[in-house]
Amino acid sequence: MLETGGPLAGRGRELSALTAALMARRGAVITGPAGAGKTTLAAVCLQLAGDREMPVARTRATHPSQRLPFGALAPILPTRALTASPWPARASF
Ligand SMILES: Nc1ncnc2c1ncn2[C@@H]1O[C@H](COP(=O)(O)OP(=O)(O)O)[C@@H](O)[C@H]1O
Ligand SMILES: [Mg+2]
Repeated sequence: MLETGGPLAGRGRELSALTAALMARRGAVITGPAGAGKTTLAAVCLQLAGDREMPVARTRATHPSQRLPFGALAPILPTRALTASPWPARASF
């Protein structure tokens, strides 16, 4: 069931492309000016994924997180992934 909180006018083509990406487990990037309906389309995608019992997580890019690598993903990454360094380290005292 598609609940968008209102009529999702004129987005059939975008929804088809996004649904195809979802079903193929591909990524998708939604671009457009502010107010164009990007967040609304993304929310519909999340709902479609949820309806299909796909795991869903939602995060948000912020100005402060811009300075961190993958900062926008930080809230949904396991803590260990954020603290573990990929580089071996040695300390001697
Ligand atoms: N296809 C649409 N039909 C009707 N209203 C829409 C549609 N897409 C977005 N809206 C409305 O337009 C406003 C801006 O949408 P939003 O998704 O927040 O835009 P963006 O994320 O691109 O800034 C919201 O009030 C939303 O409900
Ligand atoms: Mg938005």
